[in-house]
Amino acid sequence: MDGADTVVSRSALCHLPPALIMDCIKAGCPPDGVVLDPFFGAGTTGIVARNLGRYYVGVEWNADYVKIAEKRPGRGVLF
Ligand SMILES: C[S@@+](CC[C@H](N)C(=O)[O-])C[C@H]1O[C@@H](n2cnc3c(N)ncnc32)[C@H](O)[C@@H]1O
Repeated sequence: MDGADTVVSRSALCHLPPALIMDCIKAGCPPDGVVLDPFFGAGTTGIVARNLGRYYVGVEWNADYVKIAEKRPGRGVLF
């Protein structure tokens, strides 16, 4: 289990490995806390945060990534 529950091609998107994100969130954010990702991409951080019981705020300037992120399961807001 890598924390991501939506399959997205690694070749099509630039995103961090879910296992790496998971360790950072566990170390830096308490349960029910809020994770800020100012470079949200397609939203892998948001999925991992949600799966770990955290909320998130994401910021992304690429409209194509925003469209993908909005379709993925979330527990936060995206700007
Ligand atoms: C490595 S990817 C994001 C990976 C993502 N955090 C994850 O969870 O896998 C970096 C993203 O930052 C976005 N980006 C770069 N500069 C930005 C800026 N100034 N404002 C918003 N988004 C930015 C890019 O469009 C790209 O989608």
